[in-house]
Amino acid sequence: MGSLPVFWCFIFTYIKVSICLRIVGISVPPLKQRGESATLTCDYDLEGGRLYSVKWYRDNEEFYRYMPRLRPPQHAHKLDGVRVDLEKSTARRVHMRELTLKSRGLYRCEVSEEAPSFHSAQSEAFMEVYYFPRETPRITGHERAYQLKEPLDVNCSSAKSFPAPDLQWVVDGQKITDRSWLIAFGAKPASQGLLVSTLGLRAPTKQRMKLKCVATIGTHRRERTVIIEVNTSCWNKPFSLLIIIAIKIICVKIS
Ligand SMILES: *[C@@H]1O[C@H](CO)[C@@H](O)[C@H](O)[C@H]1NC(C)=O
Ligand SMILES: *[C@@H]1O[C@H](CO)[C@@H](O)[C@H](O)[C@H]1NC(C)=O
Repeated sequence: MGSLPVFWCFIFTYIKVSICLRIVGISVPPLKQRGESATLTCDYDLEGGRLYSVKWYRDNEEFYRYMPRLRPPQHAHKLDGVRVDLEKSTARRVHMRELTLKSRGLYRCEVSEEAPSFHSAQSEAFMEVYYFPRETPRITGHERAYQLKEPLDVNCSSAKSFPAPDLQWVVDGQKITDRSWLIAFGAKPASQGLLVSTLGLRAPTKQRMKLKCVATIGTHRRERTVIIEVNTSCWNKPFSLLIIIAIKIICVKIS
């Protein structure tokens, strides 16, 4: 009797009932740069059934379908930000050229079987499209002369990008995490739907400081470094004048 489960297992493995159309995997690049192309794949297992159609949607709007019964089997619908390359697209993948910021969205593939089953399965994944120019972030407020103990008052602004880059200040190799030193000005809209992030730094000064601002989108980074030399001459004018007068008075008294 102990061999019975093994027997049933054997039966179920070898008698494939065509009720199990399933999507084995959808692959959508999570992050793409504007202007790049992208290949989205939809891998399915018909489990013996016959393919009726594969349809692709972005945010519920159809832009590509593959129906093996039609001649030609492929058809692309116009959709802003989606340029399908039919030559590189098949029943299991769709190739898109020249992505724009409007290409971002939730991509879904929907696979249907022919009669008699008419089963269908679907799967979806999000694609973010970014724009991150080579331009490094801009630092302002470091040009002027700082006196010792005078707090820094500098800002870092990203280049116009999308989405808004994350900004990080690094002072002498140390990431600044103390929120009381940071002022988040957030992201401001710029032309063409792009955004500029700004982060202020209000840190105490040291004699010489290496300030680095790092802008990141995903794993992409741009950075700029400036050096601040703080004027450590503690002999500020009124104080040194007083000393000189004091010395003169002492000299006069001695002589
Ligand atoms: C930093 O940015 C804020 C907001 O844009 C602005 O008010 C402030 O003057 C800037 N400071 C410097 C030093 O650039
Ligand atoms: C440093 O500060 C002193 C006193 O305020 C001033 O006389 C001097 O010009 C400053 N030096 C620089 C390099 O800014």
